[in-house]
Amino acid sequence: MIQQAGRAVQVMKSRKYAKLDFVQSASGLVLALFMWAHMLLVSSILLGKEAMFYVTKFLEGKFFFGESYPIIVSMAGIGIFFIFIVHAAIAARKFPNNWEQFKEYRAHMKMMKHSDTSLWFWQIFTGFAMFFLGSIHLYVIITHPAEIGPYASSDRVWSEYMWPLYILLLLAVEFHGSIGLYRLAIKWGWFDGKNPRASRKKLKKAKWIVTIVFLTLGLLSLSAYIKIGIAHEDKVGERYEISSLLETTRDNT
Ligand code: HEM
Repeated sequence: MIQQAGRAVQVMKSRKYAKLDFVQSASGLVLALFMWAHMLLVSSILLGKEAMFYVTKFLEGKFFFGESYPIIVSMAGIGIFFIFIVHAAIAARKFPNNWEQFKEYRAHMKMMKHSDTSLWFWQIFTGFAMFFLGSIHLYVIITHPAEIGPYASSDRVWSEYMWPLYILLLLAVEFHGSIGLYRLAIKWGWFDGKNPRASRKKLKKAKWIVTIVFLTLGLLSLSAYIKIGIAHEDKVGERYEISSLLETTRDNT
C-alpha cells in the first residue's frame, strides 16, 4: 500500500514486463542466430550453382527422404514468421508513440552524442523497416517454396525485381541483428568479466566486425544472384538440374 494524493493505493507486484523483456530477448536471439545460418546457406551460391542446388535439396529433405518436400521450407518459414511477429509485437511497445516523442528523442540523442543511445534509435528504425521488407520476403518464400534454387532464386532477384528490396532488407537485418546481439550481451551481462567497461569496448568492436563480415557476404551473394539472373534473363522459368539428382526429384528448381 502507498499513499497517493491522500488516498491509499494498492500496489501490485507484476512480473509482466520482466516476462515480456525476456520473450523479446529470447525471440531476438533465435532470429539473430537463424539469420547467421540463413546468410551462410544463401551464400552457398558463391561456391557455384551446384553448391546452392545441393543446399536447396538438403533443406527440402531430399537426402533424408529420397524425394524433395518443399513444404518443409514453407513450414520453417511459417515458424520463423511467427517468431518474427511475436518479436515485433513486443518490441512495438518501445517505439515512440507520436511525432512529438520522436522529435524529443532525436533532440536528446543529438545532445547526448552517446553511441549506445544512437544505436537504440537505429535498432528501432531498422526494426520498423523490417516489419514491411521482412514480411514481403517471408510471404513469397512461404507461398513459393519449390521456387528456390540457382536459377529460380536468381530469376526472382533479377527478373522479378526483388533486388532493391533485398538490398534494403540486407542493410536493415545486418545492422538490426548485430546491434540487437550487442544490446543483449550488455543487458544480460553475458561477457562482463572483471572489467565491464573494457568488455563493452571489445563488444562494440566485435559488433562492427560481425556487421561488416555479414554485410560483405550478403552483398557478394546478392551480386552473384544478380549476375546469374541477368545471364538467365531470356530463360526465366527454366530450372537448374543435375542429372544424378533428377530421377527421384519431383521439383527441380
Ligand atoms: C525460413 C525462412 C526463410 C527462408 C526459407 C529464406 C530463404 C531465402 C532465399 C532462398 C534467399 C535467396 C533469394 C531468393 O530465393 O529469393 C533469401 C534471401 C534473403 N533473405 Fe531470406 N529466407 C527466410 C527468412 C528470412 C528472414 C526472416 C529475413 C530477414 C528478415 C531474410 C532476409 C533475406 C535477405 C536480406 C536476403 C538477400 C540476401 C542476399 O542475397 O545477400 N530471410 N532468403
